[in-house]
Amino acid sequence: MTKRIALTGFMGVGKSSVARHLAHRLKLKWTDLDRAIEDAERKSVAEIIDGEGLDAYRDIESRVLQAVVDDGTAGIISLGGGTFTLERNREILKAAEIPTVWLEASFEHSWLNITFSKKDRPLARDKESARQLFDERQKIYCLAEWHFVVRPDSTSFEVARQIEEQMFS
Ligand code: S3P
Repeated sequence: MTKRIALTGFMGVGKSSVARHLAHRLKLKWTDLDRAIEDAERKSVAEIIDGEGLDAYRDIESRVLQAVVDDGTAGIISLGGGTFTLERNREILKAAEIPTVWLEASFEHSWLNITFSKKDRPLARDKESARQLFDERQKIYCLAEWHFVVRPDSTSFEVARQIEEQMFS
């Protein structure tokens, strides 16, 4: 079976861009979990969280993650920033033997990307709550099997190349 990996890390670190480059380089299918959720629910992530609440969103997220994993065609899965923080989602990935890669950037770097992005992120609408979430999550992200540091000057192309060199060659 083709090697599969999942990318995790805080909002704004560049999971989707790195996943896109990596999938292109490795000629693998890439699935972005947030996008898969939006396709399944026909609503944006922000509409789900704002309209149905965070718990309901997390239930949908786990269900869609399971479906993506069971489908088996995606070689690269970019998770949402909160996906890996739930034990049940880590179990889904573990059961399918999909290693997780933590893309780590500083909070300020992530925040800069969040503010420049068009994506509406309900959990990052104000800097202080985003920083608190960032601090709380570091100890969980570091449970990932692999770890790559995204420096302020590194491009997602370069990060994808590093992952390819270290994990796929
Ligand atoms: C979330 C991150 C978002 C999205 C949702 C919740 C989080 O994805 O899944 O808004 O809890 O960190 P990105 O990390 O792709 O922005």
